[in-house]
Amino acid sequence: MAKSASFTCSNCSAVHSKWSGRCDDCGSWNTISEDTPLSAGPETKGLGAARGKTITLSSLAEEDAPRPRTKSGLGELDRVLGGGLVPASAILVGGDPGIGKSTLLLQGAAAFAKAGLKAVYISGEEATSQVRMRARRLGLSDAPVQLAAETNLRNILTTLEKETPDVAIIDSIQTMWLDTVGSAPGSVSQVRAAAHELTSFAKRRGISVVLVGHVTKEGQIAGPRVVEHMVDTVLYFEGERGHQFRILRAVKNRFGPADEIGVFEMTGEGLSQVSNPSALFLSDQDAQQPGSAVFAGIEGTRPVLCEFQALVAPAPAGQARRSVVGWDGGRLAMILAVLEARCGIPFAGLDVYLNVAGGLRISEPAADLAVAAALLSAREDTSLPRRTVVFGEISLSGSVRPVGQTETRLKEAQKLGFEAAILPERSKMGTIAGFEVQKMPDLATLVGTIFGAG
Ligand code: TYD
Ligand code: MG
Repeated sequence: MAKSASFTCSNCSAVHSKWSGRCDDCGSWNTISEDTPLSAGPETKGLGAARGKTITLSSLAEEDAPRPRTKSGLGELDRVLGGGLVPASAILVGGDPGIGKSTLLLQGAAAFAKAGLKAVYISGEEATSQVRMRARRLGLSDAPVQLAAETNLRNILTTLEKETPDVAIIDSIQTMWLDTVGSAPGSVSQVRAAAHELTSFAKRRGISVVLVGHVTKEGQIAGPRVVEHMVDTVLYFEGERGHQFRILRAVKNRFGPADEIGVFEMTGEGLSQVSNPSALFLSDQDAQQPGSAVFAGIEGTRPVLCEFQALVAPAPAGQARRSVVGWDGGRLAMILAVLEARCGIPFAGLDVYLNVAGGLRISEPAADLAVAAALLSAREDTSLPRRTVVFGEISLSGSVRPVGQTETRLKEAQKLGFEAAILPERSKMGTIAGFEVQKMPDLATLVGTIFGAG
């Protein structure tokens, strides 16, 4: 049976069975083109043409030698990779243009080269002289990294095959093109074919490849999401443009925990590591403002303290605004609804702004109670108790549910000079000397004890 052709929209990556002038999914015109088969190997001829060879099956109990990892010496990068670079792995590093991906990977390449790996950096975006200039600025000119400026993937693969480096950095996947694919570099079919070639090359030749990918405004790595499925590890480099802090976050990792973060600071001499991120994300605790609550969170395997800031102000006539930076807007709406329905505190007619200080992005439900505390504090114009951290998940019934790793959170808070915590009633914990805890069975208790109302 012949394989039927498929057509992909270069704007939204929707796949269609036939060509048309307008994509039904995103409505854009002239963006649909026919997909080119990835390779003309035997699988495209259909199963009837030739029999495959028998593959060996093995049991789950069989032991493999652990994959030797190489540490770069950049602790924050190694942490996010799950303890160093795994040989023959494919890694995608995504992020907004200008966030610092090229800087991070040039520093990473230099660090791996100094750790004894043969590292190659291929730029499709900058000339070698520009990369050298950046290396000088970063103080890395003496690092044994080999450099090239090239976008033709056939040339790149031939070179890598000859040079056999341990790690190759491809900056960026959107600039690479294959002469077997008809469309322009950056199009969905080019990105997908280039990523497929590079990842299968990595496995075949035992070379680790790091692909840089630009992210679109919607937060997707431009090109099809399938690139994320092809690689072993997906890292996002994120941060607010106005802030110097940058977070490298593992969103997928076949060789380590996902959700691990590494924290960096962009300086005049490149990225420097931040080994104690909690101190960074907190403002001066002695001058605590109304609307501010410190959340003791867990990012990956490590505790991170950060500050939620809320502002509640009368809305001009019409629709009240809800604006969130660094947290989920849907979750904010839920907490406002619970405060209104279970505690009788209305937010109708009020604008609500919520912000995580320092440009951090929080996704843990454990932040619910800290958000509620910040909102109440802003609404009542009353500061929360000083040197106090808050955490706990809020359910729709208004009860406060315990969250994991209570002691890790409290110890981090104590280390940073905090003296008290507001937390869920049924939290599993021992007593911590010199640390006061206030246990909340439900949100109404928080309203009553902290704000004397409800
Ligand atoms: P870059 O790594 O080129 O970003 P990307 O590859 O993600 O597009 O980083 C560009 C920004 O980083 C640019 O605005 C300048 C800034 N920068 C510094 O602040 N300090 C430095 O040492 C370097 C190299 C860049
Ligand atoms: Mg770049």
